[in-house]
Amino acid sequence: MPKIFSPGRINIIGEHTDYSYGYVMPMAINLGNYLEYVPYDKISLRSDAYNEEIELDLSMINKKQNKWIDYILGVYNALFELNLKPGGIKGRIYGNLPISSGLSSSASLELAILVALNNSYNLKLNKLQLALIGKKAENDFVGVPSGILDQFAVTFGKKGFAIFLDTETLSYEYIPFPKDISVIVYNTGVKRELAKTGYADRKKIVEDSLRILNKNSSKEIIEKDLEKLDPLYRKRMGYIIRENNRVINAKEALKKNNLELLGKLLIESHNDIAKNYEVSSKELDFIVETSMKYGALGARLTGAGFGGSAIILALKDKAEKIAESVHKEYIKVFEYKSFYNIVESNDGANIIEN
Ligand code: GLA
Repeated sequence: MPKIFSPGRINIIGEHTDYSYGYVMPMAINLGNYLEYVPYDKISLRSDAYNEEIELDLSMINKKQNKWIDYILGVYNALFELNLKPGGIKGRIYGNLPISSGLSSSASLELAILVALNNSYNLKLNKLQLALIGKKAENDFVGVPSGILDQFAVTFGKKGFAIFLDTETLSYEYIPFPKDISVIVYNTGVKRELAKTGYADRKKIVEDSLRILNKNSSKEIIEKDLEKLDPLYRKRMGYIIRENNRVINAKEALKKNNLELLGKLLIESHNDIAKNYEVSSKELDFIVETSMKYGALGARLTGAGFGGSAIILALKDKAEKIAESVHKEYIKVFEYKSFYNIVESNDGANIIEN
């Protein structure tokens, strides 16, 4: 029976910049979804995470169910629109990627199905096409106006590397990730669905600003241009252009193995997004502050924010101790069911058994 592994992702830096066509630097991780499946005449899937089995006729793909299966129906709709008509699938989805935690569980699900259909129905789609179809499924069917960050990271991930991506041109570079650094993903236990957060509002401000300033991408905006914007727009876009610069600087810091600078950029990024983009939370701020107190190299929220997870970078031999200390302090203050994972970089969604 074919088996797929589709990872989740962290974003090292470059947050909320993708829908402004700026820079991001994500990394696929070794938490993700497994899909064991066989081709079938219907869509018949079991999700262990949701403890639910759903069977639908292929004629039903455009009927939204307001459930996890919508990510899969979205994929089918996007493929049908391209005049690709894969058959059905029967299988089971399971794994260790927490849902609604800022680690791209939805993109991971979309890409697991896409890789399976591409493989079994000979759709001949390349990685970039798969990532873009995943995004389309999420934007058009599920209704979340996300950028390309998640699907790109989940598709193009490479063990040992972070991905520096220009979200306008979609040109990218694999940046070796230092072997002596561990990444702790600290999950606040505060779940959120992007559809119910201020994500779409933020995106609208960015789109309006690009239009007002007559630019295709935030990369073209300079500080002086911001004077033409209203105060709230200026505040949001100011964060974005500074964040673009930080992504470039973080890439250089990684290349030179300058861990101190990398850590500093992560902290700057977190403080800036908290103050000027206002998508952090007291839980995320607490994790960032506490981890620095215990000797982390750097830390910041990862993904959309509004709850979800923070990443903490630490030297390998200190990571477990820092993670435990942060956890002890966190549970003294907050009652959420928080937890952490020390993660590794991983390859993108692919077939691991045929
Ligand atoms: C979510 C979206 C991405 C990106 C991040 C914020 O993960 O799906 O497209 O905008 O938030 O960086």
